[in-house]
Amino acid sequence: MLRATLLSIALGASSALGAGWNFVQNGTSGVLALEAIIVSPTLAIFFDRASNDPLMINNNPAWGALWNLETNTASPLLVVSDTFCASGGFLSNGTMVSVGGHIPAITAAVDGRMAIRIFEPCADPAGLNCTLFEDPETLHMEETRWYPSSLRTFDGSLMIVGGIHERTPFYNTDPVNNFEFFPPKDGGVPRPSEFLQRSLPANLFPRVFGLPDGKVLMIAGNQTIIYDIEKNTETILPDIPNGVTVTNPFDGSATLLPLSPPLYTPEVLVCGGTTTSTLIQPANLSSQDPATDQCSRMTITPEGIKKGWQVEHMLEARIMPELLLLPNGEVLIVNGAQTGYAAFDTVPDPVGFQSNADHPAFTPSLYSPDLPLGQRISNKQMPTTDIARVYHSTASLTPNGNILIAGSNPNGQVVNGTGEFHTEFRVEYLNPPFMSEARPVLSNVPSKIAFNNHFTIDIDIPRNLKASSIKVALMDLGFSSHAFHSSSRLVFLDAVLSSNRKSLTIMSPPNNRVYPPGPAFIFVTIDDVTSKGERVMVGNGLPPPVADQGVKLPSLF
Ligand SMILES: *[C@@H]1O[C@H](CO)[C@@H](O)[C@H](O)[C@H]1NC(C)=O
Ligand SMILES: *[C@@H]1O[C@H](CO)[C@@H](O)[C@H](O)[C@H]1NC(C)=O
Ligand SMILES: *[C@@H]1O[C@H](CO)[C@@H](O)[C@H](O)[C@H]1NC(C)=O
Ligand SMILES: *[C@@H]1O[C@H](CO)[C@@H](O)[C@H](O)[C@H]1NC(C)=O
Ligand SMILES: *[C@@H]1O[C@H](CO)[C@@H](O)[C@H](O)[C@H]1NC(C)=O
Ligand SMILES: *[C@@H]1O[C@H](CO)[C@@H](O)[C@H](O)[C@H]1NC(C)=O
Repeated sequence: MLRATLLSIALGASSALGAGWNFVQNGTSGVLALEAIIVSPTLAIFFDRASNDPLMINNNPAWGALWNLETNTASPLLVVSDTFCASGGFLSNGTMVSVGGHIPAITAAVDGRMAIRIFEPCADPAGLNCTLFEDPETLHMEETRWYPSSLRTFDGSLMIVGGIHERTPFYNTDPVNNFEFFPPKDGGVPRPSEFLQRSLPANLFPRVFGLPDGKVLMIAGNQTIIYDIEKNTETILPDIPNGVTVTNPFDGSATLLPLSPPLYTPEVLVCGGTTTSTLIQPANLSSQDPATDQCSRMTITPEGIKKGWQVEHMLEARIMPELLLLPNGEVLIVNGAQTGYAAFDTVPDPVGFQSNADHPAFTPSLYSPDLPLGQRISNKQMPTTDIARVYHSTASLTPNGNILIAGSNPNGQVVNGTGEFHTEFRVEYLNPPFMSEARPVLSNVPSKIAFNNHFTIDIDIPRNLKASSIKVALMDLGFSSHAFHSSSRLVFLDAVLSSNRKSLTIMSPPNNRVYPPGPAFIFVTIDDVTSKGERVMVGNGLPPPVADQGVKLPSLF
């Protein structure tokens, strides 16, 4: 009796003080969440391989699902082609496009390797009548691409990068060494890439980013380049140091750090992966080989490149980590394993049924970009989960401001049960401390914002907040697939709070290269308490390619 009373007092006290970060498991994903993208304020899409998932559609197992962030339930989404290991992102008109896939293992699906799948903006909060459009005969890519990545570029179209033609045992031994675009450029002829050729054989899901001048930073294998879309040229930057490889099947992850006015100086952070040589054949790899704890960071300016990569270390080694931008400018490091590799059924000592990786990393860390080297990574306030998120898991910031975590299936099919590395359908949220506090509330946010323009929104700031710090983050939440968030981006916006603390006057991004035109969420962080995100369309909302908008910045190079 007495113990129960003390316990409830203790719990009450801790939540009154702010509960800290916590994991909450809620709901199951219906299909394995191998890919995830937030498609509206209330909905995410999950895609899996066409296989034996429990959620059914038309008397077949589904391989796509709409995840309702309000009810924590999944409903089946009709998909025509196999979405196994695909990518995707938004166009400048708000349409989500899913690209690539594989040869299906079941007859209900068709070959998805050249697929272009169209998901038009979905207005119904529960996703009623929101469908995925596919017409494989008339609408498809030029190449067969399994394991490509994609990026929304400055004209609002999607650049589709690399991949493999079809399944090979482990490494990329059947590469697609080129780029193409959707909608197509160059009359649909893909552009060959020496970089993709040079970065073989562990270069799948290249980590690609739009720089604030419109050029594209690309990382694959241990190599880095800047690709100029307009001139079709590659500029070679320094390799990732110390023999670390960071792309599939040696997945580390990478993110562009937040871009801030007035200069929007780009910096890239790359964490995890392995120092294993790609010359070693799969038969000589082990699920127990240690991953690397290395993070490498470089400023993408002439001076920054001259200085090269700055090396720091995570609190644990991770293969397949997720790096997620948070609205306050920190980067969350979550998921992955401490040993082994991505993919499944390759190493001679698999764990569970077919996992190439072992020793899941159960405790997230935060990376604070502005702290001094050596002090940036901490897990001090972080909870520990007991759900492994290894190969084929996903994570995304949600419009609510917490982190949706789902998936994990290092196996070639759905593996039921509770054994190690079974198929994981349980969905978790990682909640920042502010989820249990009074938060700023945004209202009258315009649905569309032009570049290089002031706009005003209303804000209700809890009285206990002094508002000594105000951060306005414009974010693309990215398409999560294979430890990478294609097109994910955070641009901080200058803002002035009215003297009555009731409205914010915000300056939009200067142009369509700093924030590629298309959908975004605006989050406001007051002190360290973040609002919910409000969805806006940045730019004119027209279909790609759209013309340059706003003002030019001084060039980086
Ligand atoms: C796995 O379990 C689900 C739910 O019980 C069931 O629908 C499905 O058929 C099972 N799959 C296999 C391969 O046993
Ligand atoms: C799970 O989500 C549902 C729907 O939002 C909610 O009603 C329920 O309280 C949640 N459960 C937990 C344990 O958070
Ligand atoms: C969905 O489509 C049906 C049939 O066309 C229509 O009657 C219904 O109003 C639509 N619902 C929504 C929410 O759009
Ligand atoms: C990058 O990889 C190549 C090929 O494996 C290797 O020759 C080179 O030394 C590596 N670079 C660094 C900095 O480790
Ligand atoms: C594995 O390593 C052994 C010893 O170094 C070598 O003889 C063998 O050829 C290697 N096998 C493969 C498949 O790489
Ligand atoms: C957006 O543009 C794409 C590519 O042109 C097109 O397929 C799609 O229908 C457009 N969607 C809207 C809502 O305009």
